[in-house]
Amino acid sequence: SISELDITAEELERAVRPAPPSMDRLRDDLGRLRQDVADGDHRGVERQRALGKRTARERLDLLLDEGSFVELDMLRRHRAQGLGMERQRPHTDGVVTGSGTIDGRRVFVYAQDFTIYGGSLGEAHALKIQKVMELALSTGAPFIGLNDSGGARIQEGVLSLNGYGGIFQRYVQASGVIPQISVVLGPCAGGAAYSTALADFTFMAGDTAQLYLTGPDVVEAVTGERVTHAELGGAQVHGSRSGVATFVHDDEEECLASVRDLLSMLPSNNLGRPPAGPPCGAATDLRPRLAEIVPAEQNKLYDMREVLAELVDDGEFLETHRNWAGNVICALARIDGEVVGVVANQPTVLAGVLDAKAAQKAARFVRFCDAFSIPLVTLVDVPGFLPGKDQEYEGVIRHGAKLLYAYCEATVPRISVIVRKAYGGAYIVMDSRSIGTDLSLAWPTNEVAVMGAEGAVNIIYRRQLAAAADPVTERAELLERYKRELIHPTYTAERGLVDDVIDPAETRMAIARGLAMLRDKRKHSAPRKHGNVPL
Ligand code: HXC
Repeated sequence: SISELDITAEELERAVRPAPPSMDRLRDDLGRLRQDVADGDHRGVERQRALGKRTARERLDLLLDEGSFVELDMLRRHRAQGLGMERQRPHTDGVVTGSGTIDGRRVFVYAQDFTIYGGSLGEAHALKIQKVMELALSTGAPFIGLNDSGGARIQEGVLSLNGYGGIFQRYVQASGVIPQISVVLGPCAGGAAYSTALADFTFMAGDTAQLYLTGPDVVEAVTGERVTHAELGGAQVHGSRSGVATFVHDDEEECLASVRDLLSMLPSNNLGRPPAGPPCGAATDLRPRLAEIVPAEQNKLYDMREVLAELVDDGEFLETHRNWAGNVICALARIDGEVVGVVANQPTVLAGVLDAKAAQKAARFVRFCDAFSIPLVTLVDVPGFLPGKDQEYEGVIRHGAKLLYAYCEATVPRISVIVRKAYGGAYIVMDSRSIGTDLSLAWPTNEVAVMGAEGAVNIIYRRQLAAAADPVTERAELLERYKRELIHPTYTAERGLVDDVIDPAETRMAIARGLAMLRDKRKHSAPRKHGNVPL
């Protein structure tokens, strides 16, 4: 007994219990653990490199300001049971999450780590992402996800699916409050694909980015069709055919630099304004070249990008969906330092008509700009909506209505410039006075009508032309009359539907002055739960 040992109980306990580790030892152990986690699994890292991909941490280093990353949940591990999961519980659980800055402004991020369970999303992985999403929303900071993942972690079953659902729910709650950006840098299969569709902008990089709901193996099993990863969901496919990717880049470095560029034009949240650049005298900047770029003849082609370059500061603009629905251009740019969203018809693609794809592209862009206080500048040169069976079957009415709805709903400052023709429904849709543009300008080349002169004369004078002794002369006279009476340069201005007809050289000036005039615009709609946008 203790009494026989001539020693107190406390002394005995001290003697048999090992001394607690020293502070130095605890710090060393922690440092080693954190370093091991940061270094990752060497074989996995080598495999990643062999594929031409960077590690999750290297990607974050490229994306964020140097030394700004603050990691959260580095030591998180899954608690899954079964299928041997207990034996492999790597820290981070396959996703690096936290916060950092870009050009000094706070953002929240996740970067999936393909070297751990193929970046697949299990319960802990999902909860980590959800945590940073909530912090992004509550602090009003943009949210950026770097995806490289095999999708739902098969071994974790329904908890993986539940994790995705929670992420989707948070994307939707944050939509229109903070900018959300998805970057695809490897496989992005299954559930992960919806994270890109719910974000405001989706970037894809290089040959390694693959985005699809079901991979080639499943496609073959279900449909018998054999497709490669790239054919099914490569960056080119989504950048030019499906429109899922907003920006496509050749490699990861360029892609992540482009995310930084985009953010430099966006506010951190819907209560702020986009960061303004220095004013550069745009309000007195005449651009005579504009009149040389655009031919007065309505059917002659020119590149609207050249017009855009003349109008915006330093000739620089950032186009969304550059290779998809090229008949409409959507771009962020600055005019006199102020960020604007430009929507413009592009005569070099399908003569600049609107079609189902162009309407979807522009509608989403207009809604984004409106949600984040980015004024809209619309450059109009549109012969109408593309007619035909294909378009009707594709639902051009539904998609065209999206663009109409987006403009009608937009409360940001809106300036439209009718460069040349603006016919029919396409005139109305392209931010006409009737749907709420604040400042409507037109060049002397403007032709606003139900349709162009040729088509109009054929319809309204069909009988007269058929009965004419000299139909050629008769048609020429009727055309002349139609133009003289219905589409002369001041016809629309006389009716108050454009506010001014301006010399093309004055366009940059006029837009800059308009933006200054409309800067404090406020407009409120009647309270409602939400409108029923024609999706
Ligand atoms: C668990 C996964 C995994 C997954 C990959 N891995 N995907 N582990 N769950 N979903 C693991 C692999 O077992 C492997 O582990 C490692 O990640 C690398 O995978 P590989 O196949 O060797 O790599 P690679 O050849 O490059 O192919 C990558 C891939 C392929 C194309 C992503 O792994 C793949 O097709 N995975 C399944 C994709 C998928 O169908 N996911 C479920 C989607 S359904 P080891 O230990 O060998 O290194 C879904 C439902 C949500 O997400 C729907 C919500 C709407």
